[in-house]
Amino acid sequence: MEKARQRWGTRLGVILAVAGSAVGLGNFLRFPVQAAKNGGGAFMIPYLVALVLIGIPLVWAEWTAGRFGGGFGHTSAPGIFQSMWKKSRFIKYLGIFGIFGPFLIYMYYVYIESWCLAYAYYSLTGQLASITSGGGFIEFLSGYQGITETGVFSGTLPGFVFFLITFLLNMSVTYFGIKGGIEKLCNIALPLLFFFGIVLAVRVITLFAPDPLHPDWSSINGLGFLWNPDFSALKSAKVWLAAAGQIFFTLSVGMGVILTYSSYLRKNDDVALSGLAAASTNEFAEVIIGGSLVIPAAFIFFGPEEIITVAESGAFNLGFVTMPQIFNQIPVGALFGFLWFFMLFLAGITSSISIAQPSVAFLEDELKIKRQSAVKIFGVVAFLLCQPAIWFMHRGVLGDLDFWGANFIIVLGATIEIILLAWIFGIDKAWHELHQGADLRVPRVFRFIIKYITPTCLLTILIWWLISDWWDTITMKEVASVDVPYILGTRLLLLALLGVLAIMVRVAWHRRKLTNAAEEAES
Ligand code: PHE
Repeated sequence: MEKARQRWGTRLGVILAVAGSAVGLGNFLRFPVQAAKNGGGAFMIPYLVALVLIGIPLVWAEWTAGRFGGGFGHTSAPGIFQSMWKKSRFIKYLGIFGIFGPFLIYMYYVYIESWCLAYAYYSLTGQLASITSGGGFIEFLSGYQGITETGVFSGTLPGFVFFLITFLLNMSVTYFGIKGGIEKLCNIALPLLFFFGIVLAVRVITLFAPDPLHPDWSSINGLGFLWNPDFSALKSAKVWLAAAGQIFFTLSVGMGVILTYSSYLRKNDDVALSGLAAASTNEFAEVIIGGSLVIPAAFIFFGPEEIITVAESGAFNLGFVTMPQIFNQIPVGALFGFLWFFMLFLAGITSSISIAQPSVAFLEDELKIKRQSAVKIFGVVAFLLCQPAIWFMHRGVLGDLDFWGANFIIVLGATIEIILLAWIFGIDKAWHELHQGADLRVPRVFRFIIKYITPTCLLTILIWWLISDWWDTITMKEVASVDVPYILGTRLLLLALLGVLAIMVRVAWHRRKLTNAAEEAES
């Protein structure tokens, strides 16, 4: 007998869960760094264009495909892809990227999430308040990460303890499943993080230029840094790539995560309006709240040039070095510091639980392992595979994982998904599916965009990457020779993981064939 499927409890619940997946460290840490590095106002035009031409179409595509595949009892990309292209023998193997991609991001995301918890704690204990210089914060961060020996920390132990706590929290949410774990957490965490975010944004916007030497370093000019359009950068391919990459990452599309979440919907549950609502919530968190925090704050205290320098000096420096420095200079800064880091932590955990789900769903629904056991298996494997990013971060392992996950596989996955939906499953059927039970009629122009524009943009990005970077990346041209063994080891590990997933898919389908045959023989 088929066991009862897991389902979402309420419509708001699934929207908050998908929004929770989307609103993450990407919104508050990655977005300001990308915007600053790519010239502020110059970044926002390609960003908004990519949102409309690639981001939103992919959101609809994933919600639609996920609910469709869910109708056949599939909850992860291999099965969902198979249900959309029944005759194909290989499409389920391409679906592996919808498990592998999120897993790969998990391997470093939870670790970064744990820094946020640690920094929230150090804000409360006053440890951050006692640091007096920018250099001091850089030292604190690298000491915490176990990269340099400092007076405060030695080794990776404190970082490891916070990682362990964060990891266990993640596992316990996953353990309680879709409705009892994920939905419950998101129902509380999302409103809370928005509240913290708005309080922080209001605080930043009401900071008046405190530096008499630089009266033009005001919050309004800080907002202008992001919002005054600069059309000259539209010619730069690099800016376009960065903008499109940020859109994928922030919306959680292209990875199979939304596929899995929407597979727990019922056939007549709306996807058109829900998908748009979740994506809009993410964009509000990113450009309105996220855009009113780090950039204007850093602008007021350090000026426009310094923001770019800091953003270029390291992906985490704006959030973990610049922000705490600012909190030290404002009244009740420790409290605001806590709000900032705890908000990041909430944003992080509601995303990391979504990245875990495709793997757990695969074990549960394709390999027919009981949920609790599936979570335990996932927990052990994920725990082990999170270790390289923790211990060898200074060897570039974390950066390499981020490159493959957030830049390459996300684009590859999105390309496979959109071509499968619009061309193989067929745009007519897809359009019909999208509107099944829908509370919104999607403007017809999107039919054209989904069929022609989105795939063309994605293929262009993919081919561009293959032409310009492929060889140098594979041959590790830019990797220092001492780091080569670590990066190579990580990549071999990833290849092995891909291989294991392929075997698991084979086993799952082989078993299904046997059970189907047995059932037929019986009847
Ligand atoms: N969207 C998340 C963020 O902004 C990250 C994420 C990427 C989550 C891909 C799921 C899938 O941080």
